[in-house]
Amino acid sequence: MSDPLILVLDAGTSSVRAILYGLDGAIHGHCSRDLMQHYPGPGLVEHDAGEIWASSRSCLADMVAAAGGAERIAAIGITNQRETVVAWDRSTGEPLARAIVWQDRRTAQACKALADAGHERLVRQRTGLRLDPYFSATKMAWMLTHEPAVALAGATLAFGTVESWLAFKLTGEHVTDVSNASRTLLLDLAGDDWDEELLALFGVPRRALPRIVATAGPVGATRLFGRAIPLTALVGDQQSATIGQACLAPGQTKLTLGTGAFVLTNIGPARPAPAEGLLGTVLGEAGGERHYALEGAIFVAGSLIKWLRDGLGLVRSAAETEELARSVPDNGGVALLPALSGLGAPYWKPEAKAAITGLSFAATRAHVARAALETVSHQLVDLAAAFAAAGAPWHDLRIDGGMAANDWLAQDIADMVGLPVTRPADVETTARGAAILAAVGAGLHPDLPTAAAAMIPPSRTFEPRDIGAERTRRLAAWRDLLERS
Ligand code: G3P
Repeated sequence: MSDPLILVLDAGTSSVRAILYGLDGAIHGHCSRDLMQHYPGPGLVEHDAGEIWASSRSCLADMVAAAGGAERIAAIGITNQRETVVAWDRSTGEPLARAIVWQDRRTAQACKALADAGHERLVRQRTGLRLDPYFSATKMAWMLTHEPAVALAGATLAFGTVESWLAFKLTGEHVTDVSNASRTLLLDLAGDDWDEELLALFGVPRRALPRIVATAGPVGATRLFGRAIPLTALVGDQQSATIGQACLAPGQTKLTLGTGAFVLTNIGPARPAPAEGLLGTVLGEAGGERHYALEGAIFVAGSLIKWLRDGLGLVRSAAETEELARSVPDNGGVALLPALSGLGAPYWKPEAKAAITGLSFAATRAHVARAALETVSHQLVDLAAAFAAAGAPWHDLRIDGGMAANDWLAQDIADMVGLPVTRPADVETTARGAAILAAVGAGLHPDLPTAAAAMIPPSRTFEPRDIGAERTRRLAAWRDLLERS
């Protein structure tokens, strides 16, 4: 029989993908379907969970066909956009409402009310997170009070993040893994089960929630493709990319440039203390060992470029931003605050609005495109300081995600942050991490270091250059924008 393959489902914010990997990391097939974004009003972002499932199922079916049949697929791993809440009826398997996406700000007031009532400290100490609409618990509470079908579902109500929804559709099991559970506001960071006090604080019924399992290990099997295929990994996409970049030892740091931009530093097996401006999160649990990470979550990165393309019609493709950025010597005084869904780490300003400043008749779309790319580096400079202050300084940055293919941006990050930036030959690190975890979960590789050594391709490095006064000038304009936000 031919070598076994691992099938990964990467259900992200902008698209759903399925990728087939060999145990040596070689890619044997790839499928992608764009996901419709619903913006019913300012600050509101929704997905159709039925569409997420339909696209996932058809991508998986395409990859089973590409593998020559289900017999060759030894395991499935799922990685996902985190925090987004799906509510479904466990008896019919149908969604009860639109999914509320992680970017959605509708619970900003509810979060503020909880903070004003003095709950921020408990939440930060216990969950590693903060009272921000980004996380799942207030979205669940919102659905329970505003979506009649959710409110009336009673014992048949099932809540879950996207991996939980997909695992249910594939296997019938209602499960989530610790890396995803640690993003809900309902898990004690060091715990294995939902926390009673937090459930009561947010008003989320335990019976609606999934069972929490390890990140790697068998959780069920799907029979949808002709033969039972085990599901052996569930993992939040940012944690998955961290594994896919082989950040397996404390201090190692990755930056994923996807819809948002997320920096995670592995901090080892000890639960992190709350760190100013940053999040503490579970990196994953495999082979009985749990690792934690410190995280800096930037809400808008690739989505800013998508908005320049689809919202403003300023560029024809994301790739064109690289050409435009190179076509001008500098930003021409144009500066941009990318707060299209508030500002995340390290600022945490859910109500901030985006702005473009410094416009004159001399400004062109090239300057705006360049300023848009530059905002990624500006936020990273501030995140680097926050990580250093938390005792977890970066030594280098391993970048990945669609936007990491932009050489101009990779070099700009190296120059502005002042550190080497390395980029693997394949920037789809999120799916690769889930493939590594699924291989370990299925016992096809003995542990994560062995799997990572076998399955990760070589990298290219961008060394930092001294850009002197230009750096100072850009950061001064950035601070000015932040103050006005
Ligand atoms: O926390 C949100 C994150 O998981 C979304 O990731 O790759 O869809 O931007 P991405």
